[in-house]
Amino acid sequence: MDTIRIALTKGRLEQKSVEMFEAAGFDCSQLRDKGRRLLLDVGGLPAKAVLAKAADVVTYVEYGACDIGIVGKDTIIEHGGSFYEVMELGFGKCRFVLAAKEGNDIYRGFRRLKIATKYPAVARNFFDKKGMDIEIIKIEGSVELAPLLDLADGIVDITETGATLKENGLVIVDEVCNISARMIVNTASMKMKSNIILPFIEKLKEVCENNAQNS
Ligand code: PRP
Repeated sequence: MDTIRIALTKGRLEQKSVEMFEAAGFDCSQLRDKGRRLLLDVGGLPAKAVLAKAADVVTYVEYGACDIGIVGKDTIIEHGGSFYEVMELGFGKCRFVLAAKEGNDIYRGFRRLKIATKYPAVARNFFDKKGMDIEIIKIEGSVELAPLLDLADGIVDITETGATLKENGLVIVDEVCNISARMIVNTASMKMKSNIILPFIEKLKEVCENNAQNS
């Protein structure tokens, strides 16, 4: 019998993904109590789940190592790749923004801006559309530090509550786009394992619709 593999993004999206699966009637006790195990059963589905970093979720799905992935739109935009993006999941909502130190009007003047980001493709694309040539400094985490250390004029990053910006004296200068969690599916799996994948998508759609009605 066919089985599927589902890649979930560790961290921010993990809890909500598990809650969504449980609301759809699947037993996630292994996901809730995983210890050091990496391949986890999802009860009620012929499926194993893995937890991975966001960029790896996209890679696993693209290569068919996993059939389905739950990942943020931010990673999808940054990473690109060839897979089906089948559903907006209604959680993990945040925004891509350009931010800078309060009082620093970074659009004034003609100097080539230095922008720190975990998302170089998103930042490049945003400034390309404005016809601005910038220098990108790739940072792996806590990007908000870069302007504070005078490493960069501004940052392109995700913000959810706005607390990290605020607590570090940074303000939003511009909006790039809204993002949220998405379900992605490997293109071959969609054909070869449609008997499992399509009913699974339908169940999650129902949960999303119920969540949307109740919010
Ligand atoms: C993200 C983002 C900001 C923070 C924003 O980082 O890069 O730093 O969350 O959230 P807020 O608006 O609710 O304060 P994350 O926590 O994913 O970790 P990182 O900084 O180590 O990348």
